[in-house]
Amino acid sequence: MTRFLKGVALGMAAALFLLNPKTYSRDEKVPKDVATKKNPVASSDAVLAKAKTAYEENCLMCHGETGKGDGPMASMLKEKPPDISDPKTLGELSDGEIFWIITKGDKAAGMPPFETKFSEEERWGLVHLMRSMSNTKPSNNPAKR
Ligand code: HEC
Repeated sequence: MTRFLKGVALGMAAALFLLNPKTYSRDEKVPKDVATKKNPVASSDAVLAKAKTAYEENCLMCHGETGKGDGPMASMLKEKPPDISDPKTLGELSDGEIFWIITKGDKAAGMPPFETKFSEEERWGLVHLMRSMSNTKPSNNPAKR
C-alpha cells in the first residue's frame, strides 16, 4: 500500500472508532474486580516482543514511537494522547486500569477500544509493554479518584 492509502485507511478506521458507542470514558469507574486484578500473564521477552508488534501496528499512530503522544495521527484527535513514557502518567494506575482503557478505549478523547481486536491475554501483554515503556512497576492498587 502506498503511504497515502495507508493514511486514508487509518483515518477511516479512526472515524469508525469514534462512532463506536461502546467505549469507556475516564470519568467512569473501572469495575473493582478489574481495577484490583493482578496481571494474569507473566512477562517474558516473547510476550513483550508480541506486544511491541501490536503496539507498532495499532498504537504508535497516536501514541508515537516511544509513547510521547506524538504519533502521526495525534493532531487529529480531540485530546492529545498523554505522554506514557513519563512514569507519572501511568505510575498511579493499576495494571487493571491500564487493561481497561486498552479494552474499552475512551470515546470522548479519541482512544479506540481493543476488546474485539486483541484477546485478553494480548491486552495483558500490552499492559506489560506499557509498564516497560513508562518505566513503572506492575501494581494492582487502583488510583484514588
Ligand atoms: C486513535 C488514537 C489512539 C490509538 C490508536 C490508541 N490510543 Fe491510547 N489513547 C489515546 C488518547 C487520545 C488517550 C487519552 C485518553 C485518556 O487518557 O482517557 C489515550 C490513552 C491511553 C492510555 C491511558 C493513559 C492515561 O493516563 O489514562 C493508555 C495506557 C493507552 N492509551 C494505550 C494504548 C494502546 C496500548 C494502544 C494500542 C493497542 C492505544 N492506546 C491506541 C489515543 C489512541
